[in-house]
Amino acid sequence: MLSKVITIAQQKGGTGKTTLAVHLALAFIKYHSLKLAIIDTDPQGSLGKWFVIRSDKKLPNDNLTFKTASLWGAQYESKTLKNDHDIIIIDTPPKIESDARPSIEAADLVLIPMAASHVDFWATGAIVDIAKKANKKILIQINRANQRSKLISKTNDFIRSLNISSTKTIIGHRQIYASSMGEGKTAVEKQKKSKAVEEIKKLSEQILIELK
Ligand SMILES: Nc1ncnc2c1ncn2[C@@H]1O[C@H](COP(=O)(O)OP(=O)(O)OP(=O)(O)O)[C@@H](O)[C@H]1O
Ligand SMILES: [Mg+2]
Repeated sequence: MLSKVITIAQQKGGTGKTTLAVHLALAFIKYHSLKLAIIDTDPQGSLGKWFVIRSDKKLPNDNLTFKTASLWGAQYESKTLKNDHDIIIIDTPPKIESDARPSIEAADLVLIPMAASHVDFWATGAIVDIAKKANKKILIQINRANQRSKLISKTNDFIRSLNISSTKTIIGHRQIYASSMGEGKTAVEKQKKSKAVEEIKKLSEQILIELK
């Protein structure tokens, strides 16, 4: 068992925390044959809704455990899940600030999604500070990007200014990420070969290297 915890956190709402949580989970299962657990700590319950649709449709959940917990509860829950799971992904709500601490404390890696936009830069410092104080490995994930946008290089400058790293894989703005989730699925189950599948697979490979 790998027994590693990834906490996906970002102060700003709608940056793609839940989308990344499910896509990474399914990529780890599909491409790396790992046993996954996902914990929804968000009262909005989007992750839970996705899992319910998935279960109602009897889609395969053989290597996927779903739990809900409070931000505090996730710390305990993830410790227990480590006994029989390779990776535990904690999806957190927006606007958590200091409440984020227990779920950050539980993490081996804190993944912070953000768009290539100044509004997202302004929101990102707070969660980076909390993760740095907890001495955690931090990776920024650029999400919903237009690869040709001039803002990508500005975003990379911003990430460097925080003295942290980003993943090498930029996730594009692609409809399949949203539409697949509405069916209780992910892009990697809907498509065999596509840009979305390629980038999520690459991202799962890189994150696995960071965790080992
Ligand atoms: N790469 C992407 N391409 C296209 N749409 C995306 C992408 N990532 C996320 N989305 C869409 O953006 C919206 C917000 O995504 P998501 O719910 O994953 O963000 P979140 O950070 O979990 O939000 P919250 O802070 O409310 O929990 C959703 O409609 C989702 O389908
Ligand atoms: Mg969410």
